[in-house]
Amino acid sequence: MTKKRIITIIGARPQIIKSSALSRAIRTSFADKIEEVIVHTGQHYDENMSNVFFEEMEIPKPNYNLNVGSGSHGAQTAKMMEGLEKIFLEEKPDAVVIYGDTNSTMAGALAAAKIHIPVVHIEAGLRSFNKAMPEEINRISSDHMSTLLFTPTKTGITNLANEGFSMDLKKSATIDQPNVYLCGDVMYDNSLYFSEISDKKSTILKDLDLTKDDYVLCTIHRDSNTDKKENINAIFEALCNIQEKSGLTVLLPIHPRTKGKMNELLNEDLKQKIDSNQKIKIVPPAGFLDIIALEKNARIIVTDSGGLQKEAFFFEKPCVILREQTEWVEIVKNGNAILTGSNYTEIMKAFETLMTEKNYSYPTFYGDGKAAEFICSKIVEDLA
Ligand code: UD1
Repeated sequence: MTKKRIITIIGARPQIIKSSALSRAIRTSFADKIEEVIVHTGQHYDENMSNVFFEEMEIPKPNYNLNVGSGSHGAQTAKMMEGLEKIFLEEKPDAVVIYGDTNSTMAGALAAAKIHIPVVHIEAGLRSFNKAMPEEINRISSDHMSTLLFTPTKTGITNLANEGFSMDLKKSATIDQPNVYLCGDVMYDNSLYFSEISDKKSTILKDLDLTKDDYVLCTIHRDSNTDKKENINAIFEALCNIQEKSGLTVLLPIHPRTKGKMNELLNEDLKQKIDSNQKIKIVPPAGFLDIIALEKNARIIVTDSGGLQKEAFFFEKPCVILREQTEWVEIVKNGNAILTGSNYTEIMKAFETLMTEKNYSYPTFYGDGKAAEFICSKIVEDLA
């Protein structure tokens, strides 16, 4: 049997991280069946938003980097598509693998589907039902251009069924007759795999002078939270109040988008309040081993990141979700997390509720830690 040749598209931080699980499964169990070519679009380019992950997460160096950098949605996506199409025509892959919901995801799907290369979408089927989010547009369009759809949750299956996807499995899937699978979450694979390595290698707690349960881990990067003056001010006002009321340190590894917007949009008195509070620590974005260590030892997590809200669940931490909706509805329904948007009162209320609740349960919503192996087996079996 000839090897299946796949091109993996990565670009933004979360998909670099996600891709590690599949590269590892190929290396350990499918080296004789799958050959992987990696293309980095260059959507994220700062050292600590991109390079840091390759080494620590054992991800092969990209074969290509398009270096598209930042830009408006249209400009960024168009540049990616142009570069990707050229590579696809040259490399002639059997399939293109895309992750999640970023502009790199949609650019990969569109460029491949138009020239009849099957698209494999990992993290398919998730919906926020809010099309004002650029990610929602990316998710829906990518799913409808895919030939193999791998969804991490039962909710993803329901969403795809509601959009008309058939759940019948075909021997050879096509874009018109795609195969949809429930496979668990590759991020659960990664969290299990890297948890022990993080315990051994990460020194971040010591470096930042933190101890178990004495801090709130917080991340903010959604444009709806960072780019509106009222929202970014409400969130930081709440963080200051959380720090003062609880006495816990608030640790914020900061996304470059947020750093820029804090300078531009925060009220002067709030900026001063943050600067003068020693227990509000703003640090550079963390690598994966460090973020796992920070998640495992935090008292509670406050975030608008899809990844962090789920990792909070994996490591059994309550989570305030700074969004109006989530694609990971299970953790909210199960009471492990509360949605607050950027509303000051809601954030404070959720923080207090989650800090006092004691009876949390953690059902297995996200598979068995072997999602990547399952995906590889279907890539080998299903693509004609
Ligand atoms: C993107 C994804 C989002 C994902 C997030 C993870 C889209 C539409 N959004 O959002 O779904 O959750 O990545 O981080 O694809 N910047 C830098 N250095 C970098 C990268 C970005 O300074 O390495 C700054 C630039 O000012 C840039 C801004 O951050 O304009 C936003 O970057 P962009 O890639 O457009 O979106 P993210 O907010 O990172």
